[in-house]
Amino acid sequence: MEKKNIDWENLTFSYTPTDYRYVSTYRDGKWDEGELTTDATVHISECAGVLQYSQSCFEGLKAYRTKDNRIVVFRPDMNAQRLHDSCKRLEIPPLPEGRFEESVEKLVHANKDYVPPYGTGATLYIRPFVFGSGPVIGVSPAPEYQYRAFCTPVGAYFKGRVKPIVIRVSDYDRAAPRGTGNIKAGLNYAMSLHAIVEAHQQGYSENMYLDPATRTKVEETGGANFLFVTKDNVIVTPKSDSILPSITRRSLMYVAEHYLGLKVEHREVRFDEVKDFAECGLCGTAAVICPVGKIDNHGEEICFPSGMEEAGPVLAKLRQTLVGIQDGEIEAPEGWIREIK
Ligand code: PLP
Ligand code: COI
Repeated sequence: MEKKNIDWENLTFSYTPTDYRYVSTYRDGKWDEGELTTDATVHISECAGVLQYSQSCFEGLKAYRTKDNRIVVFRPDMNAQRLHDSCKRLEIPPLPEGRFEESVEKLVHANKDYVPPYGTGATLYIRPFVFGSGPVIGVSPAPEYQYRAFCTPVGAYFKGRVKPIVIRVSDYDRAAPRGTGNIKAGLNYAMSLHAIVEAHQQGYSENMYLDPATRTKVEETGGANFLFVTKDNVIVTPKSDSILPSITRRSLMYVAEHYLGLKVEHREVRFDEVKDFAECGLCGTAAVICPVGKIDNHGEEICFPSGMEEAGPVLAKLRQTLVGIQDGEIEAPEGWIREIK
């Protein structure tokens, strides 16, 4: 590993450009072969579909360095499938079969000196994205697209690593019923910016969004799914058509059941049952598992018995097992780990 001048232990979740990124263009009805480039700047029309009508979607996944110094990526096939689903919903032509995984492999390989050393708590975050690059002025899909993927070494998403956070119940909605909440469209995040800036100004780390139709059920936060633990150690995760199907959440449900022998329930979660859970946390690629200590619902506080000092025992064990699988210390289920050589 060539030495990069990076303070790995103190990285935050922010953008540090690396040497290479991957780019492929869709023109005249087909995707070109794609290539690595050192050019981090995108040159597009002022009338590009992404600039006018926000026609874009993205993914997020991570590369990890194992104890024996291998580089692995976690479940890229799942991100490939979700990007495909996002593209279909946004009338973006999906990438050719296998192209996503190929791009991730080439990207990580070319930037392997940026994969943080084992044990630093840092990882290499990979951000693939597709956007309408061709001009549109009437509301319609763009005639041309770019797929790009870059990577950046990152630390924890929330300050304080695994310290419990405080969140609030948001008065804004994240996604409409039958809208785009279940895909990773950039527009979902644009409309959450006002809510997150306001939450931060008021001292909260995130927003808990409720279902927009009835505001009685828990959906997710701006960038992660919820995990709850009942007093009997059952893992409960909210089910809704307007939640992003988190790969971390789906992986954790498998780990809880098959590695830890816990019962898991993926079902609608009423907000009025949240106060009865023993533990609460957020999960996602960026968040990993972040414990929630307190939820503020317009001045009425829900304080979880796990407290504000550390994660509760079940979520701590789940996190440790997932990270162990990602780091190569615990044997992964078949197909979860893709080694980059
Ligand atoms: N929910 C939202 C809104 C997200 O942005 C993310 C991040 O990708 C997640 C959930 C977690 O998904 P994943 O575990 O696939 O990263
Ligand atoms: C991820 O976890 O990969 C995400 O895209 C979440 C984002 C809010 C950083």
